[in-house]
Amino acid sequence: MADFKLSFLDINSVDDSRLAVAFEAMSDERKKETLSIIPENKKRQKIAADMLCRQMLAEADGIDPADIIISKSNDGKPFAENSSNKFSLSHCGSLVVCAVSKKEIGVDIEKIRNVRLKMAEKFACESEIAYIGENPERFFEIWTLKEAFFKCKGTGLGSDIKSVCFDIADKQITCSENGYSLFIKNVADGHICSVCIRN
Ligand SMILES: CC(C)(COP(=O)(O)OP(=O)(O)OC[C@H]1O[C@@H](n2cnc3c(N)ncnc32)[C@H](O)[C@@H]1OP(=O)(O)O)[C@@H](O)C(=O)NCCC(=O)NCCS
Repeated sequence: MADFKLSFLDINSVDDSRLAVAFEAMSDERKKETLSIIPENKKRQKIAADMLCRQMLAEADGIDPADIIISKSNDGKPFAENSSNKFSLSHCGSLVVCAVSKKEIGVDIEKIRNVRLKMAEKFACESEIAYIGENPERFFEIWTLKEAFFKCKGTGLGSDIKSVCFDIADKQITCSENGYSLFIKNVADGHICSVCIRN
C-alpha cells in the first residue's frame, strides 16, 4: 500500500487575515504568479493551496511552515526545495487538495458535472471509453486519473494523454505503465479525487 497523506480545504472556511499571512509566506515567484491572477476566487485558491501544502510538508518534516520554500520545474511541477517530501496540489471551485509523500506524487480533483461524453475520445483509450459509457462519474474518474498520473510524472501539458490507460475494476486501478499506484479518494460529495504515486 502506497504511503501518502491527502488533505483538503474549503477556501470559504479561511478568513482574509489568515490568507494575508499565507500570502506573505509564499515564495517571491509564487507571490508574483498570484498577483497576476485576476479573478479573486482563483487568487484565494492559489494562496490557500500553497498554505495547505506548506503546512503538510512542514508537519511531515517537523519544521516551521514558513521555512518551506516552494519552487517549480520548467514544466510547472511544484516541489519544496528544502523538504525530503514530494507534493502535488489541485484546485476545484472552493476546494483545494494537497497530497504529500516520500515518493513522486500527483493529485487531481474535479466536480462531477454534465459534460459531452464524446469529449472522452480526446483523452481516453478505447477500453476507457467503453468503461465510461454514459456515466459522467466514470468520465471524471478517468480524467482525474490521467491528470494525477501526468502530474506525478511532471510532464504537464505536452503529455501524450492516450499513452497511458487505466483499468478500473472493483475500485482496483491498474495502469498500463508499470511502476505507478493509483487511487480514487472520496474527499467531498459530488467530486472525484485521484492520486498517483510512483512506486
Ligand atoms: C497544468 C495542469 C497540471 C493543470 O491542471 P488543472 O486540472 O487545470 O488544475 P489543477 O488545479 O488541478 O492543478 C493546478 C496545479 O497543477 C500543478 N502543476 C502544474 N504543472 C504541473 C506539472 N507539469 N506537473 C505536476 N504538477 C503541475 C501546479 O501545482 C498547479 O497549481 P499552482 O500553479 O497553484 O502551483 C494540467 O492541465 C496538465 O498539464 N495536464 C497534463 C495532462 C493533460 O493534458 N490532461 C488533460 C486531461 S486528461
